[in-house]
Amino acid sequence: VSAPLPVAKGIRPRVLVVMGVSGSGKTTIADGLKNTLGWPYEEGDTLHPKANVAKMASGTPLTDEDRWPWLEKCRDWIDENAATGGILTCSALKRVYRDFLRANGAELLFVYLKVPDFTLRQRLERRKGHYMPPSLLASQLEALEEPAADEPAIEVSVQHSPAEAVAHTIGALRARDGVV
Ligand SMILES: Nc1ncnc2c1ncn2[C@@H]1O[C@H](COP(=O)(O)OP(=O)(O)O)[C@@H](O)[C@H]1O
Ligand SMILES: [Mg+2]
Repeated sequence: VSAPLPVAKGIRPRVLVVMGVSGSGKTTIADGLKNTLGWPYEEGDTLHPKANVAKMASGTPLTDEDRWPWLEKCRDWIDENAATGGILTCSALKRVYRDFLRANGAELLFVYLKVPDFTLRQRLERRKGHYMPPSLLASQLEALEEPAADEPAIEVSVQHSPAEAVAHTIGALRARDGVV
């Protein structure tokens, strides 16, 4: 974990839950945020039980039942890191999942990566070495409920470079925290 850059000064610790469908750039953007903020980082994919990973790799969408044990692990991580700051990737596609993640009152902010469908398809077809097959994208898009106005969330439109997405997120955090 590196020291925060000057641009991150004054940003209050909380957990950033980098969310969106497969291929939206969660891992990429979370890595950039980690390097900028210097907060601990967890890849939510690694919190899945083995059975879930096998299921996804075989192209079968997860059910809610499959997702609850995983979401519980995500929430544990959020609760452990909220006070000092952290970055978690977690698709958090549905409102009920997101409500579950913040049910214990930890301070968090959803960073929703909004990417056009055709861009997602292109990215997933090019991506190597990941268990998530492009065929699962349709079910992910179907499950997705975008964060509503009453949720703690910012939207990042990722048509541009990862660096721009990170800069946009940092700018939104600074604005929320009144950093001048
Ligand atoms: N802003 C971006 N512009 C172009 N390509 C991107 C961008 N963000 C991510 N990618 C690429 O898209 C693919 C999916 O990104 P990834 O971070 O693995 O998504 P996720 O973790 O949400 O599944 C990767 O190959 C990544 O390099
Ligand atoms: Mg990822």
